[in-house]
Amino acid sequence: MKSTIKILPLIGLLLIGLLGCKDTAVKEETTVKEENNVPAHYKTMQQDEASLLKMRWFEEAKLGIFIHWGIYAVNGTAESWAFFNKEVSYDDYMKQADGFTASKYDPSAWAKLFIEAGAKYAVLTSKHHDGVALWDTKMSDLSVVNKTPAGRDLLTPYVKALRDEGLKVGLYYSHLDWSHPDYASIVPPGFEGDRDRNPFAYPAKGEENPEAWDRFLDFHRGQITEIMEQFHPDLYWFDGDWERTAEQWKMEELREYILSAQPEAILNSRMSGYGDYATPEQGVPINPVDGTWELCMTINDNWGFRQSDTNFKSSRQIIQTFAECLGTGGNLLLDIGPQEDGTIPDEQVQVLKDLGSWISKHEEAVYLTKRGLPNGHFYGPTTLNKEKNIVYLYLLDTPKEYITLKGIRNVIKNIRVVGSDQVLTSKKFGGAVWQKIPGILYIDVPEEVIDEYITVIAVELEGELDLYHN
Ligand code: GLC
Repeated sequence: MKSTIKILPLIGLLLIGLLGCKDTAVKEETTVKEENNVPAHYKTMQQDEASLLKMRWFEEAKLGIFIHWGIYAVNGTAESWAFFNKEVSYDDYMKQADGFTASKYDPSAWAKLFIEAGAKYAVLTSKHHDGVALWDTKMSDLSVVNKTPAGRDLLTPYVKALRDEGLKVGLYYSHLDWSHPDYASIVPPGFEGDRDRNPFAYPAKGEENPEAWDRFLDFHRGQITEIMEQFHPDLYWFDGDWERTAEQWKMEELREYILSAQPEAILNSRMSGYGDYATPEQGVPINPVDGTWELCMTINDNWGFRQSDTNFKSSRQIIQTFAECLGTGGNLLLDIGPQEDGTIPDEQVQVLKDLGSWISKHEEAVYLTKRGLPNGHFYGPTTLNKEKNIVYLYLLDTPKEYITLKGIRNVIKNIRVVGSDQVLTSKKFGGAVWQKIPGILYIDVPEEVIDEYITVIAVELEGELDLYHN
């Protein structure tokens, strides 16, 4: 398999993680540069036949649930970033461990809720940048087993609960580790950042220690081996690749190492480009993304639980984003942040339930669809069924009398409202038959068919979609 990416020359620092909202963890100085305005997390390996096959369940899944759960939920600090960004001292951050109980942790209830939401997989933070493992790692003593009143491995029951419900298992693992004594031991070649500002990430000038870095890589590989052997995740959701180069991480070797043991495993792109699919964050891509992708997004402004963050998006807003992901051909990995005891905030539960009831009504226009029409044919997201003879139109707003669809050359067989038997009337005006220019299709949409969130219209075509552009 050939890499489609070139490892970039590292020219100083770049801000790539600006999430743009209050209280939100801001990714500080990073070393991975964007190339031609393409964010680093969009770069993936070229897919060959075998990898296209292994990606199938993922591409049909459409919805996953992201779970950021860790000691940061105790006082509601930003996950890991709180001490990195000096919002609290490292010691105060780590003291949160004393309050992390997992006392109401019920992974089987989580899994049932994810099913109700319409999700097909979930991804839990096995270890965030703070280095606190949620399982009984033998590679260090920094785990919830040793350091918190929870006192037990939280991953085994999670993995079992998901598999019992038929969900695919994803585990998030941050490569970087701001607690590990050997981590801040090297800098990328040509590094010009402020080392003093980032003592958790980089050594002071003259203090570089490549042997310590080798030890860190042994630790990193050791933890990943534990995850592979104990949990066999279907999906490895890596993060935190930006402080070192692909060569320093030995990412290509890591990819081979995991896939030689688990050829079916899916790896996300946060492997300095050696992953299988792109992971845009917090914003639906405006332009189509090549290959497989998944948008990860929070329901409020933060990944982990924060008492102070009540800026929840509404169910409608989340469902709209989901429809936009479908229309742009990607998955949504929707984040929740359980509290320290394992309970999921009510507002997030509600969004998951609303999303689930919308999906169950509109199922045919969700899982088995592909990216829809290019921009310009319809004002809103669209998808196509596998046979490419049904176009689904997602109505983000309530139309005034009708909607318009342009550039469809096919004979229209039927137009109906998804989730009901309601057939809609339509009229075609204009066009130039002698030039194969189709007229504009006006579809009547009476008020009574409008869904509480997003109405979906199925336009059934005679034959495979035949489009006219310009
Ligand atoms: C960003 C955040 C990180 C979070 C991740 C999820 O990288 O900095 O804290 O875990 O997004 O995608």
